[in-house]
Amino acid sequence: MHNGFIQLYFPDADAIRAELSEGLLAQHARTSPKYLYDALGSTLFEAICKVPEYYPTRTEAAIFDQYLSEIARSIGRGSTVIDLGAGNCHKASRLFSALQPVEYVPVDISVEFLRDAVNALRQRFPPIRMTGIGMDFSASLDLPDDVRREKRLFFYPGSSIGNFSPDEAATFLARIRDACRNDGGLLIGVDLVKDKAILDAAYDDSLGVTSAFNLNLLLHLNMLLGANFDPRDWRHRAYFNQQESRIEMHLEACRDIEVRWPQGRRRFAEGERIHTECSYKYTPDDFLHLLERAGFGTVRTWTDERGWFLVCHARAV
Ligand code: AVI
Repeated sequence: MHNGFIQLYFPDADAIRAELSEGLLAQHARTSPKYLYDALGSTLFEAICKVPEYYPTRTEAAIFDQYLSEIARSIGRGSTVIDLGAGNCHKASRLFSALQPVEYVPVDISVEFLRDAVNALRQRFPPIRMTGIGMDFSASLDLPDDVRREKRLFFYPGSSIGNFSPDEAATFLARIRDACRNDGGLLIGVDLVKDKAILDAAYDDSLGVTSAFNLNLLLHLNMLLGANFDPRDWRHRAYFNQQESRIEMHLEACRDIEVRWPQGRRRFAEGERIHTECSYKYTPDDFLHLLERAGFGTVRTWTDERGWFLVCHARAV
C-alpha cells in the first residue's frame, strides 16, 4: 500500500444537491467555499496567489525561506508529514531538505490532482515514503492504518484555517490534536488582521482574477445542480468586515433575476447577494488562544517584518 494512492472520498451527488439547494433557498443565500474549487476554480486560485495584491502566499513563503532552519530544528527530523489540502504539493516539498521526513502523506479531496505531483516528487526524494490520500479531511481525520502514528506533523499552510469560522476552526484543530498522539504537532500558517485597504485589495484585485474565481462558482453550480445562473448577471463583492474580523466574499445580482434548478427556484432582487466565502483574520494572541483551546501545548511562532502573516509550530504536548 506504501508509495501508493488511496481514494477514501466518493462524492454523493444527491447530498451535494440537497446542501446547495438548502443554502440557495436560505433567507440569506449562501454556499460553502469548497464549491469554489472545480478544475477552473483551482486554476484561478493558483493565479490569485500570483497577483500583486494577494500577499498571503508570498509572505508565508518568505517566512519559510527566512526561518526554515529554525522551523526544522523546532520540528526535528524523521516525521511523517501529513499535508492537508496538498494540491500540487509544492509548499511541503520546499521543506523536505531541511525537515528530512521519513514519510509524506499529501491529503486532498481528489487523488487525481495529486498523482502527477507525487510521482514527480518520488523521483526527487526517493528515501521518503509517499502515499497520496483522497479524503474530505474537513469531515474526518481518520487516516488509513498504514500511515505511521509516530511523529506526525500536520501541515496546514496558506491560512486555509481562516476559511472556517473560529468555532469550526477550534473543532478542526482539536481533531488534528487528537490525531497527533503525544509526539506530534502542527505547522500552520495564518493570515493576520491588518489595514482594511490592504485586505480589501487582496480580495478584489485590479486584474479581476478574484472576481473570476468567485463568478466561476456559478458555472460550477450550474454543473452540480443543473441551475441556469448566468455569470453576466452577477458581480463580485469582497470586503473586510471589521466587526467579525473576516473578509466576506459575495456574489451580488446586477438586476432582478430568477434562477431555476430541478429541485427549486429563487428570485434574487437587484443588489441581493449569495455569501460565498469567509476568510477570518486573526491577531497572534487570538490564534494562540485557539491553539490552546484545541489542546496544543507549546507553540513557536515566526512572522514577517510587517507582521502580516504568522507561521506556528504547535506541539501536541
Ligand atoms: C484558500 N484560502 C485560504 C483563500 C483565502 O485567502 O481565504 C481563498 C481565497 N479566496 C479569495 N482569494 C483567496
